Amino acid sequence: MNAPPKTFHVKSFGCQMNVYDGERMGELMTAQGLAVAPDAASADLVILNTCHIRERATEKVYSDIGRLRRDDGTRPMIAVAGCVAQAEGAEIARRTKVDVVVGPQAYHRLPELVADAARGGLAVDTDMPVESKFGRLPARRRVGPSAFLTVQEGCDKFCTYCVVPYTRGAEVSRPFAAIVDEANALVDAGAREITLLGQNVNAWTDGDGRGLHDLIRALDRIAGLARIRYTTSHPNDMAQGLIDAHADVEKLMPFLHLPVQSGNDRVLSAMNRAHSRDGYLRLLDRVRAARPDIALSGDFIVGFPGETDAEFADTLSLIDAVGYAQAFSFKYSARPGTPAADMAGAIPADVIDDRLQQLQAALNRDQAAFNAASVGRRCDVLLERPGKRVGQLIGKSPWLQSVHVIADASIGDLVTVDLVHAGPNSLAGEVVARAAA
Ligand code: 5AD
Ligand code: SF4
Repeated sequence: MNAPPKTFHVKSFGCQMNVYDGERMGELMTAQGLAVAPDAASADLVILNTCHIRERATEKVYSDIGRLRRDDGTRPMIAVAGCVAQAEGAEIARRTKVDVVVGPQAYHRLPELVADAARGGLAVDTDMPVESKFGRLPARRRVGPSAFLTVQEGCDKFCTYCVVPYTRGAEVSRPFAAIVDEANALVDAGAREITLLGQNVNAWTDGDGRGLHDLIRALDRIAGLARIRYTTSHPNDMAQGLIDAHADVEKLMPFLHLPVQSGNDRVLSAMNRAHSRDGYLRLLDRVRAARPDIALSGDFIVGFPGETDAEFADTLSLIDAVGYAQAFSFKYSARPGTPAADMAGAIPADVIDDRLQQLQAALNRDQAAFNAASVGRRCDVLLERPGKRVGQLIGKSPWLQSVHVIADASIGDLVTVDLVHAGPNSLAGEVVARAAA
């Protein structure tokens, strides 16, 4: 027997969808009358919302569980949620003591599972139910100026290195009306910017021919909403309608995260990416034709099985050709159960380290160049959080750069700023005026 928890703390790892899920789990527990604890150490219930995408993410969960033990030998009630729970729920429960294991498609049942665990024993739900969890979550009440909204989950692409199709399941789109309702609720709760989320967000469909661009155009009509973003997209789902929306929907921000993973056709094919280097570059040409100032972002994997020096050099040359505003790069990590885990040609760790360093040097160079080229631009900045200095506020430019300003303004304000100084990771701006709402 455990006493039913009165306070909780959510710790989310990994992607933005996990951040969204973590917020929704928090709202569920708040609706049950639990209070938010400031940190894990003082909480009665700790929800670890885990990520399974790479090895180190999984190891972190185990060390986090270990660290929750207190000096007096007690520990909080522990709920392991997210993709590690989905993929390794049984293994976790075998290796260490936890109270609840809940997968990403079952977390609407968290209150029941916590109640079960309080009666003693382990409560597990890693089902992928047919009914959607979304209909069972409480309404959104208080959010920051920039909010996430999941519109699509899961993946049918089966890139050979990736666990997502197994942990998040098949591609499922939420209904149009439910998304528009949630967007309105988010705006009523304080959001000025909404980022539509999906593992393949641009594969969103209502099953009746409407695509992500129709959703974006519907959100464009919400009066209090100033900015719309979406992530993550797959090159093969980049419909012309979505590209066109970048040309004429003013609220749609000029930013596109479009992972490519490698610049070499043999590697892309071994990854089952189902697009070529050239196809990707031509697609970016079309996007740039629609929105010339668009900032591009990507994901890269180095050291995929069999990747040669020459194949890696193709990735570097693709980066040179694109000129990314920012990007994420990862060392290949063999994930159990994925086809690539059984491929021959493992790359030695020192070679992977060296390639990652070269890749990151190229990406950092391009990010610094993109930021430097922004100096002199005038743009709107959505203020999201206080800075370290007195009177300082930090927000985002349309191109998703962090911008520091000293201003007599509030978080949630959209201010017009002259960008006056660039660092590698952020810019400084001078406020010209409060932007029109
Ligand atoms: N190893 C390394 N990186 C991976 N990613 C996905 N699976 C793996 C893996 N097994 C990266 C991809 C993806 C991002 C979310 O994580 O670049 O786009
Ligand atoms: Fe993973 Fe590929 Fe699906 Fe992205 S598109 S979630 S990398 S399988």
